[in-house]
Amino acid sequence: MQETIYILDFGSQYTQLIARRVRELNVYCEIHPYNKVPDPGPEVKGVILSGSPYSVRDKDAPIPDLDNIKGRLPLLGICYGAQYLAHAYGGEVAPAASREYGRANLASVDPEASLLDGVSSGSQVWMSHGDTIVRMPDHYRIISSTGDIEVGAFQITGESTFGLQFHPEVHHTTEGRKILHNFLVGTCGCGQLWTPDSFVESTVSELREKLGNDRVVLGLSGGVDSSVAAMLLHKAIGDHLISIFVDNGLLRKDEFTKVLATYKKLGLNVIGVDARKKFLDDLKGITDPELKRKSIGRNFIEVFEEEAGKLEDVKWLAQGTIYPDVIESVSVNGPSAKIKSHHNVGGLPEMMNLDIVEPLKLLFKDEVRKVGKSVGLDPIIRNRHPFPGPGLAVRILGDITEEKVRMLQEADDIFIGGLMETGLYEEVWQAGVVLLPVQSVGVMGDERTYELAVALRAVTSVDGMTADWAKLPYDFLARVSNDIINKVRGINRVVYDISSKPPATIEWE
Ligand code: XMP
Repeated sequence: MQETIYILDFGSQYTQLIARRVRELNVYCEIHPYNKVPDPGPEVKGVILSGSPYSVRDKDAPIPDLDNIKGRLPLLGICYGAQYLAHAYGGEVAPAASREYGRANLASVDPEASLLDGVSSGSQVWMSHGDTIVRMPDHYRIISSTGDIEVGAFQITGESTFGLQFHPEVHHTTEGRKILHNFLVGTCGCGQLWTPDSFVESTVSELREKLGNDRVVLGLSGGVDSSVAAMLLHKAIGDHLISIFVDNGLLRKDEFTKVLATYKKLGLNVIGVDARKKFLDDLKGITDPELKRKSIGRNFIEVFEEEAGKLEDVKWLAQGTIYPDVIESVSVNGPSAKIKSHHNVGGLPEMMNLDIVEPLKLLFKDEVRKVGKSVGLDPIIRNRHPFPGPGLAVRILGDITEEKVRMLQEADDIFIGGLMETGLYEEVWQAGVVLLPVQSVGVMGDERTYELAVALRAVTSVDGMTADWAKLPYDFLARVSNDIINKVRGINRVVYDISSKPPATIEWE
């Protein structure tokens, strides 16, 4: 039985962050939409209510059913969650006189309150709300105030129910980790048993049990998720896992050969398929980014099916799906608009009549990396930046030719190689080069040139949902620009992309 914390999601941008903080304290947790909460079994040790973009006073405010939770299980409301606990049980929530946003300091901390054990008065916290609790229901006890607001934190007398009007999960709340620790360990009694090693041990034995002697096929991409999935499966069933790694001609320079060699060294039973011509032929003349993605997705399915079809007795298809892909999100502004159709192997299982196995579906990205370390995955793969499924195709604006792929591979290699040599690679979340459909005049020696421009893109981010452009040192950018212009035939201009997401995106297409 795995000790579990439920997080009820009311649509806050911070819900996943709460979950990651809980996991960082080695406690397993699950996010559930506030209106679809499974009945908590004995494994559920406590419940956290997230924040929300709604006000509890809105007529369509999200209302959870806490009948099986409040007063029975330890409960912690954060921001909207805290205001809901006040509002729904006889208190009053009203618009704050001024929006309570940003840093504040705790002015008082109740020494009797277990939730705030060891938290210093004066400690910095992060506020982000337009409403505030102005009157508490009976039996609610204030356990902390800030200079500006009286109800910083409360507890319901006689219950293990708490509310925080600030955000303990945000790193500006300097003692937020301690508060969450107090709740999870002190109040809920969790044993902090969720570690990469324990995950590996239990997952490998579950996989063994589930798969027995069956054969499993997996598409490897060179990225961390599919690689870690492969390592776990390999540990469980050895050569009954057959991996397929496809060269679509849109990978980074020499990547196919290098990564294939690494996989083989790790002992994986991997088939490398050179399908460059098929992919590039099909992409000829296509300029629309969505059509590029579709073409690549379709060709991947064809190649994969053909290769997998040569194998006998395969029963399962493994995928490197991770937790953020499966969390059902609470839709705040109606169904979220489709911005880009991300290429994955969707469509494969139905066509191939295979059962699906997804060994990483409980993990956040940072946890996947830790599990990768625990199973001995090469650090080069483990710490690799995310790379889009359609690869360089979405970094060549306009139509794709072999020559453009060559130019981009060379330029990308110089940029990424430079980031690695200088130790900057780990400081950025993702980096790459974009080949622009723009020619400009230059001079080289005595000659005028009229060649293509590239944009360097490097961002910092935690999950790719929002991103900031990386403030790379000028002398580094200067060196990369020089190297690219001097060494890559066909490129005579380099620019640096200084757009953040939103409103821009990480990729240009
Ligand atoms: P954007 O450009 O939407 O990218 O800010 C966010 C993250 O997603 C990656 N990305 C893709 N990944 N197939 C993928 O597998 C795609 O079509 C695709 N488009 C973007 C992007 O590299 C970044 O990490």
